[in-house]
Amino acid sequence: MRKKIALIGGGNIGGTLAYIAASKEIGDIVILDRSKEYAAGKALDIEESLPVMKKDINITGTDDYSDIKDSDLVIITAGVARKPGMSRDDLLSVNAGVIKIVAEGVKKYAPNAFVIVITNPLDAIVYAFLKYSGFSRKKVIGMAGVLDSARFNLFLARELNVSTQDVTSFVLGGHGDTMVPLIRYTNIGGVPLLDLIKQGRITSNKVQEIVERTKSGGAEIVKLLKNGSAFYAPATSAIRMAMSYLNNSRQLFPCSVYLEGEYGLNDICMGVPTFIGANGVEDIVQITFNQEEQAIFDKSAKAVGDLVTAMQKVLN
Ligand code: APR
Repeated sequence: MRKKIALIGGGNIGGTLAYIAASKEIGDIVILDRSKEYAAGKALDIEESLPVMKKDINITGTDDYSDIKDSDLVIITAGVARKPGMSRDDLLSVNAGVIKIVAEGVKKYAPNAFVIVITNPLDAIVYAFLKYSGFSRKKVIGMAGVLDSARFNLFLARELNVSTQDVTSFVLGGHGDTMVPLIRYTNIGGVPLLDLIKQGRITSNKVQEIVERTKSGGAEIVKLLKNGSAFYAPATSAIRMAMSYLNNSRQLFPCSVYLEGEYGLNDICMGVPTFIGANGVEDIVQITFNQEEQAIFDKSAKAVGDLVTAMQKVLN
């Protein structure tokens, strides 16, 4: 039987998720949005492409949580984007309200689903979903590090004039200005980036510029699009994570997960290397930091901690 995938939020990312999932035929899809007609319109548009793509899945749009009954996978993008004049805390409390409704609906109708959260502010929303739903921490992750790493890999590949497929890196920490790109763990087809710097193929300064560009990767797209934020790369990243769960591939991704002592942190959600398989979060990998990396990670943990504290106030 085909898997059932519920997409909560049928906006730019939700619609793109639906389109990619349909084109890969990974399951039947329900798009749930607060606007039923909007969700139905997206679903019908994608459905009409099925005969051309030669794919067989069912896709529907709804505003009724009972339609997501027994979904295997839920991907959440519902929420509002930050508008001019809105502070980060305003966004946090508005989207906390949205995630409360979403968590209650998912808990009631899809209690065994694996959940991938995309709504921002990411780490705080993952935290809120866990608290509102009471789900096991193995079943809830946030998508940020895969996207941040993809941006870092792309910029490096373009600079080095090598295949985008050959650059491997991971970006840990919070999804925001304090993300932690790990240069020491970055390689090109297995060759450490640090060796390429030593050989003069790329300068440390250039790498640092790329780190900064990665940190503001989301803002760069917003500036260009003007009316909205990135959606192709975020959706592609989340589908990659979803496939590892659905196919039990046990791929290692930087995911925002709830930490219980890992990395010396407790009661916080933050991006760390995580194996994703049929059980959801299969394992969290502890990597060793040097002094400088530890300092950047600690700074990120502090920023995420502040967000989570703000979220705890909303939850109480
Ligand atoms: N229930 C269901 N859907 C909702 C709700 C709700 N309570 N509130 C908002 N939505 C829907 C909106 O109707 C809209 O269709 O969520 C959708 C959000 O889509 P977009 O505004 O297009 O935003 P998108 O670009 O998809 O980003 C979604 O992901 O990366 C984050 O910062 C981004 O938080 C944002 C989220």
